[in-house]
Amino acid sequence: MTIDFHYLRHPMEKKKEIVMSGIRPTGFLHLGNYFGAIRNYVKMQEEFECYFMVADLHSLTTHPDTKELKANVHRVLAENIACGLDPDKVALYCQSHVHETAELYLYLNMLAYKGELEKTTTFKDKVRLNPQNVNAGLLTYPVLMTADIILHRASYVPVGKDQEQHLEMARTFANRFNHRYGEVFPEPQAFNFNQELIKVPSLDGAGKMSKSENQMATLYLADEDEMIRKKVMKAKTDSGPTEPDSPKPDYIENIFLLMKLVSSADVMQKFEADYNNCSIRYGDMKKQLAEDMVQFIAPIRNNVDAILNDEKGLKQIMEQGAEKANKSAHTTMKLVREAIGLKYY
Ligand code: TRP
Repeated sequence: MTIDFHYLRHPMEKKKEIVMSGIRPTGFLHLGNYFGAIRNYVKMQEEFECYFMVADLHSLTTHPDTKELKANVHRVLAENIACGLDPDKVALYCQSHVHETAELYLYLNMLAYKGELEKTTTFKDKVRLNPQNVNAGLLTYPVLMTADIILHRASYVPVGKDQEQHLEMARTFANRFNHRYGEVFPEPQAFNFNQELIKVPSLDGAGKMSKSENQMATLYLADEDEMIRKKVMKAKTDSGPTEPDSPKPDYIENIFLLMKLVSSADVMQKFEADYNNCSIRYGDMKKQLAEDMVQFIAPIRNNVDAILNDEKGLKQIMEQGAEKANKSAHTTMKLVREAIGLKYY
């Protein structure tokens, strides 16, 4: 079933608030992405009018080589859908399929000052890492992100900590537009469903799961069963507590945390009790965790593969998403052109 966001709603029904977020097409999501971000999106789709976009244009600022772009875009779409994002409930689309993004980006560029863009932390980091490719798109990255958000006049933007400065800039540019040309845009706010985002600890006891750090300490949704078992069995443990009810060292706490995400309450209770009376056997605990992890990840992985193998289905999903996003974009851009004064007859 397709929900027609703007036109089929009963006039007495309260308009749903609008959520928008962008997903980098870097592919290969891990457990941290799942519990930290995607699960939030999946909950939001029930209550909000959601626009979730694959940020393929943004990736051109840092990845001019596009050989892998198609595969990456397909994978990130498939992974998000396999995790529960429903293309019938949300607008799931690619940034480059909504051309009015580029038009709004152009107008917003006239409202963004070089000085403030140069001060952006992510810009400075990228300049430092890659001094031979300091292109204008990199400088105006937050302007493009603003265009993505306010193109749908979104009020809420679920993002991680690393995007907070960009979101702050989006508020600045939206307000500047409103002051200069008239109220068109709401002020976009950061938003998360559960107050606190779940941080999924890595398997080596150091920090959280991450794409860039120790690969063996991060569980990917694409990992094969044997790989999952191998990674879990390598998790750091020790010879166990010697005093009843002793506090847990971080790396042990992490194993319990991971278990809490994927194992049943009974299993949790058993190992908590074993820990507290010093009879815990970490080998058994990790075996249990590994099997529960396999039970959790394998269906998602298989689902991703099935979605990826159905190229026609993927095309349809992208078209359906682009249609919804373009409809919303057209409505906003009419208001934008009029507000600016680009209307001569
Ligand atoms: N910049 C975001 C990131 O790197 C991705 C993104 C692009 C985005 N456009 C957006 C996020 C709009 C939220 C809203 O993760």
